Amino acid sequence: MPSVYIETYGCQMNVSDSELMYGKLRAEGYESVDVPHGADVVLVNTCAIRENAEQRVIGRLGELRRDLKPGAILGVTGCMAQRLGARLLETDTRVQIVVGPDAYRMLPALIDGARQGERFSATDFDLEEHYEDFTARRFEGVKAWIPVQRGCDYRCTYCIVPTTRGPERSRRLADVVRETRDVAEQGITEVVLLGQTVNSYHDGTHDFADLLRAVGAVEGIRRVRYTSPHPNDFSDRVIAAMAETPAVCEHVHLPMQSGSTAMLKRMLRRYSREDYLACVERLRAAIPGLGLTTDIIVGFPGETDGEFEETLSLCRAVRFDDAFTFKFSAREGTPATRMPPEWTVPDAVVDARYDALVATVRGISRERNMARLGQRLEVLVEKEARKGDLYQARSRDFKTVLVPGTADSIGRYLHVELSGTTGATFTGTPVAERHALPMAG
Ligand code: 5AD
Ligand code: SF4
Repeated sequence: MPSVYIETYGCQMNVSDSELMYGKLRAEGYESVDVPHGADVVLVNTCAIRENAEQRVIGRLGELRRDLKPGAILGVTGCMAQRLGARLLETDTRVQIVVGPDAYRMLPALIDGARQGERFSATDFDLEEHYEDFTARRFEGVKAWIPVQRGCDYRCTYCIVPTTRGPERSRRLADVVRETRDVAEQGITEVVLLGQTVNSYHDGTHDFADLLRAVGAVEGIRRVRYTSPHPNDFSDRVIAAMAETPAVCEHVHLPMQSGSTAMLKRMLRRYSREDYLACVERLRAAIPGLGLTTDIIVGFPGETDGEFEETLSLCRAVRFDDAFTFKFSAREGTPATRMPPEWTVPDAVVDARYDALVATVRGISRERNMARLGQRLEVLVEKEARKGDLYQARSRDFKTVLVPGTADSIGRYLHVELSGTTGATFTGTPVAERHALPMAG
């Protein structure tokens, strides 16, 4: 049996795509292996969102070529493959196949061609392609990533994704439900619905509200999450579906990007500071105990001190549970690269703002977490923790809780009391069963 190794970079959509590629190749007679050394086929599934993501892949390709056995096929897939296409074949002579996110169906044929010495790049978009006949080879045993939408129709001016993943299209609701049933039958109790702007999902008949209700009704599914939504696509219907479907977890990852309306305009985010805040308020009013996380970019072209202050003040107003913070990275071909050069924010200013943002976000997160010590909640044990003999578990509202356990605990639900926090993560002490919270006073 020929063997294949896939190394995955970037977001959950890429993790899910790697599972589909492994599934397809398994169906074609390949076995998967977990190290590149000795593999017949090595694929690097790449991310293009920021310059440093691409640099890491270039470095890694250099390492891998030294590790490959003679005759092994080296391929690049994913967003960087789509972005650079045949250019990758020119710059890295060891790479034989370059395959974009809509062309994974061609992988077996491309690998066969590579064996004959061919070198090929496949980067056409296919608006019908959802890989419905592929069976994902899942590595994560506790939760399942389920793509429900591919591509993006927004045109945020910093973002390469519309170029690398093409226009937005949704899978049919019935297909998503079928896949959810399949994973539930395998004993998986949590699903994560994936899409670039997942709450704009629409299959021609059903919207995201219908999808949440349908997936949440699948027998055996106890937790439904989704990522990432766009603030403008939170219709009342979607919020109601979230609030009324017991399986849908009380957590939203709601990318904010900036707290300044002027900046949001330059980013073409299509909402204002006030709109964002109003969206948060609608979500919080409908879903008690909602966990809220976000993405924020600093140093986008033209960012003034005042605009950056508005980002800090919106963080203080919202009080996120956590935030992913990024320094702006200019991506070739995006509208941001055509902004006046004098708008470029100097590196030293970006660095200082970044540090200030991280300090603000962490401070808020710590305060929120400290206030929760002593609370009791349900967690799902996901995997062994990195250190110690603890296991890593998650609450419905997306807090990481380290708990004592054994390998058997993975996949189990536990009731714990939050007994300690580093400020970012918790330790939990198991309690016999769910107790009502003590009455105030
Ligand atoms: N530079 C920095 N951060 C970016 N993101 C997207 N494009 C860029 C870029 N060019 C961030 C956004 C997005 C997250 C996935 O990555 O915050 O929400
Ligand atoms: Fe990029 Fe904006 Fe689409 Fe998100 S919504 S993938 S940030 S273009």
